[in-house]
Amino acid sequence: MDNNKKSMETIVNLCKGRGFVYPGSEIYGGLANTWDYGPLGSQMKMNLKAEWWKFFVQKRPDMVGLDSAIFMNPKVWEASGHVANFSDPLVDCKSCKSRHRADHIIEAQADIDVEGKTTQEIDEIIASKGVKCPKCGEKNFTPVRKFNLLFETLLGVIEGDKSSIYLRGETAQGIFVNFKNILQSSRKKLPFGVCQIGKAFRNEITPGNFTFRTLEFEQAEIEYFFNPAKQDWEKLFDELLGSMKEFLTTRLGLKDENLRELEHAKEKLSHYSKKTVDFEFNYPFGFKELTGCAYRTDFDLATHSKASGQDLTYYEQEANEHVAPHVIEPSFGVDRMILATIVDAYDEEGEGEEKRTVLRFNKYMAPYQVAVLPLSKKDELSVVAQPIFNTLLDSFRVDYDETQSIGKRYRRQDEIGTLYCITVDFDSINDHMVTVRERDSMKQERVPIAELVSYLGKLLA
Ligand code: GAP
Repeated sequence: MDNNKKSMETIVNLCKGRGFVYPGSEIYGGLANTWDYGPLGSQMKMNLKAEWWKFFVQKRPDMVGLDSAIFMNPKVWEASGHVANFSDPLVDCKSCKSRHRADHIIEAQADIDVEGKTTQEIDEIIASKGVKCPKCGEKNFTPVRKFNLLFETLLGVIEGDKSSIYLRGETAQGIFVNFKNILQSSRKKLPFGVCQIGKAFRNEITPGNFTFRTLEFEQAEIEYFFNPAKQDWEKLFDELLGSMKEFLTTRLGLKDENLRELEHAKEKLSHYSKKTVDFEFNYPFGFKELTGCAYRTDFDLATHSKASGQDLTYYEQEANEHVAPHVIEPSFGVDRMILATIVDAYDEEGEGEEKRTVLRFNKYMAPYQVAVLPLSKKDELSVVAQPIFNTLLDSFRVDYDETQSIGKRYRRQDEIGTLYCITVDFDSINDHMVTVRERDSMKQERVPIAELVSYLGKLLA
């Protein structure tokens, strides 16, 4: 099914109904743009993060992991440039009181990219191009203001003795400030990467599109350090981009046609980047950013070295010299990857009574790989089905469901993306065989219970 034909409303409803993602704080009327991952969504997130860690950390001798704190010394964010530069242009409509990203409404209405322009220049574009409020249609805006995205909070328990601190706006900075520790403790040689998965927070002006843009989200980032005199950065950049694509297509199972690369124009680059290429995904609301890869040069280590007074260079033994490592940063949004995986896997087939909804997850991402379904709740079937379930639990992610008709249970498992259903029927009691139904083809095969683990093991290896 074409992603453009999929409706976000259907996907949001399925996510809530089946336990992937719920609106946050719902019993108190919710909190806009916050989302909670339910039993199936949290399992999927675990699967994704475990696969990412395996793919980039465990299987690569040139990468190591890190789990740094969310709170950091505020000097980190001053040195990194986030306090001064990490902002979006904001306007308020004086007529209907709605708030907008000035760059977004200008791009949508006048097709002009305002990246790098001053607030005064943006004001002039709004006036000269007659940009209107997307909500009420009036041309009655406040002057443009730069709105910093860092979330500020207070540290300390005593009133009057509290200090301001930021929730981290990206996980990357935790890696840069630990560069020296990692170098000394792991004794890694350049080139090497440091990988981290964790929460990041941004005071977004226009969050929305379900989990696509939220205030609190999870990132999976890599800072890949190298010696620019020894390594061709463009070659390295392409290699890392290739690994990112391989992860997205083989581990998440995203279809090639729903991914495209977008290189940022020079004026659109972040304050730290010399080249950035995004992978955009074809969401139901159009192609939008999924991940990014940026060449950050030695910007971060150099600025942290200057601000902290610490030596953050790397000693090249052969040449007997200290070099300032450069860095290429593949950065992934975990929530966007979950959303993209659900959207890409969503499919409908058949008509009327025969219609079914299927999430065509692969073995890595499916919350459950297998479901054990006794034909009825009768004890004589439970005594056969329960031990099968217990045995399979050691090797696979398994659900057990004995309520409702078998047809309805197949449909439910299709809707949550379970790859194989094992039906235990009355014949199973005597012939010690079960029926294995494959989700996509719906083909069924009788398999001896004794061979089930190795049979499924081959399919899910
Ligand atoms: N360290 C580089 C960095 O943070 P970014 O493009 O701002 O770069 C990286 O963010 C990824 O984080 C994005 O590609 C996206 O997947 C995810 N992301 C960024 N802002 C987000 C938000 N408000 N909500 C959900 N995901 C977000």
